[in-house]
Amino acid sequence: MFQQQVIDILKKEIKGEIKLEIPPNKDLGDYAFPCFALAKEYKKSPVDIAGELADKLKPAVLVEKVIATGPYVNFFLDKAKVAELILTQIHEQKDTYGSSDDGKERVVCMDYSHPNIAKPFGIGHLRSTMIGRAIYNMLKFQGYKPMGLNHLGDWGTQFGALIYAHLTWGDRERLNTEPIKYLLDIYVKFNEEKQKTPELQDEAKKWFKRLEDGDTEAIKLWAKFRDLSLEEFQRVYNLLGVDFESYDGEAFFKDKFPDAIELVKAKMKTELSDGALIVPLESFEAPAIIVKSDGASTYLTRDIAAALYRLKTYTPYQILYVVGSEQKLHFRMLFEIMHLLGKDKSKFRHINFGFYLSPDGGKMATRKGKIVFMEDVLNESIDLARKTIEEKNPNLENKDKVARQVGVGAVIFYDLVNDRIHDVVFDWKRILDFEGDTGPYLMYTYARASSIMRRMKSEGLIPDVNIDFSKLSHTSEKELVMLLSGFQNKISEALQQYKPHILAQYLIELGRTFNEFYHSCPCLKEEDNETKKARLLLINCTRQVLITGLKLLSINAPEEM
Ligand code: ARG
Repeated sequence: MFQQQVIDILKKEIKGEIKLEIPPNKDLGDYAFPCFALAKEYKKSPVDIAGELADKLKPAVLVEKVIATGPYVNFFLDKAKVAELILTQIHEQKDTYGSSDDGKERVVCMDYSHPNIAKPFGIGHLRSTMIGRAIYNMLKFQGYKPMGLNHLGDWGTQFGALIYAHLTWGDRERLNTEPIKYLLDIYVKFNEEKQKTPELQDEAKKWFKRLEDGDTEAIKLWAKFRDLSLEEFQRVYNLLGVDFESYDGEAFFKDKFPDAIELVKAKMKTELSDGALIVPLESFEAPAIIVKSDGASTYLTRDIAAALYRLKTYTPYQILYVVGSEQKLHFRMLFEIMHLLGKDKSKFRHINFGFYLSPDGGKMATRKGKIVFMEDVLNESIDLARKTIEEKNPNLENKDKVARQVGVGAVIFYDLVNDRIHDVVFDWKRILDFEGDTGPYLMYTYARASSIMRRMKSEGLIPDVNIDFSKLSHTSEKELVMLLSGFQNKISEALQQYKPHILAQYLIELGRTFNEFYHSCPCLKEEDNETKKARLLLINCTRQVLITGLKLLSINAPEEM
């Protein structure tokens, strides 16, 4: 916003593209325009050009001073005016500050979370849920119409095995009380028995065939497994505060495979290989398998059908798949096939992410067959948060609710604070550290700002914009205002790359700067009333941006902790 004002000033004298730099040192102003590139055209030295430009250019609205330093023209913003503009905006716009209508209601399909029925909600699904949800929230905030599509893994030959195993060794009671643990157990048992009796695989296939043919008993059991699994997943979603526009999983697309397969056959060169229908793809090492030799669809076919359905149903601006990096090849193939089917490839995007590693370096979810249940991870975090609260603030009201917010928020923030493409080491100490770059640190900062507001209110002081903005003259106050002014830019930047950590890191910087400010510019004890009022507004505005930012990451911060 301010940059544009500086560019507008420069445009009066200079043609062509104008690129500004941020001076390394605050004494050199807020923006610098380097004159080197103009030397040839003007036939003068960059130093002379800078000097002449600085004389000609006039300050305007928010730009207070224009001076030349060597070959640069430096621009200084009027900090009081900037503060007035920004803080007034935040004060008036409240929780809509930072939003925009950039998205123009364009639909973005967000394929995220997508756990597999009858299997534990894995850590990869947790990552997908949190990253996907943060992007979803930011898109909405910028005026897009995101559609959360939970593409459940609810189809495939394993359901034949599960039905067989349940009918053979079943335990109805356990199915109802702990469905996923139970289904996992019978699936493991099935695979163990299969080692001894390979024919069991045929039984599984038979049941899957019945399922595909719509056999009532098979469908009934499958639906039951699905419902009970979803009920369990719902507990995780409730903890995370996440919901979806659609839960249509792979099974939903089963009556859409035939059309998709016909289209592939019509538009692309297909081959039969050992009874399977494949598409040889240039620049891919392996061909794409469209129909298996036993006639069953594949994960890829179901995705082709889903993509075609989404293009038709939602006419989306984009379709994003928030899925771990291990599926890179799958999505490259899918997008290539879409391209070959004549669809606009640029609409599709794989938002990939790395693994969680256990502190000893192994892959976390699958080590030694020990499965980590996400609900347990969240509940453990809540317990740890509760312990800290007991120590730090034993008299707090609503301890359970606060522990839940802090525990869950800590896990979410930890997931989002690093570039999603990296692997992350899962480390409780770092997740719940109140001093580090963590969720608890930010929540604590928010609670602290809220507590100041409460105390000021009890003195009869409420934030107001009729103040002397020039009172905000301390370096940390100016820095805080500048940071607040950059909120929307950060969200746009995060969305351009679909990287929530850009927003998360910004919030950490905001929190740090706020705490520095609070340390050097006391508010409650300040004797000059005008200064006190100005700081009160600044605190309240920071508090607003903090909570808006946290909410965009799906974190609910308590007012007190
Ligand atoms: N259920 C799949 C898995 O757990 C992820 C689904 C991703 N979405 C998709 N359209 N393929 O691996």
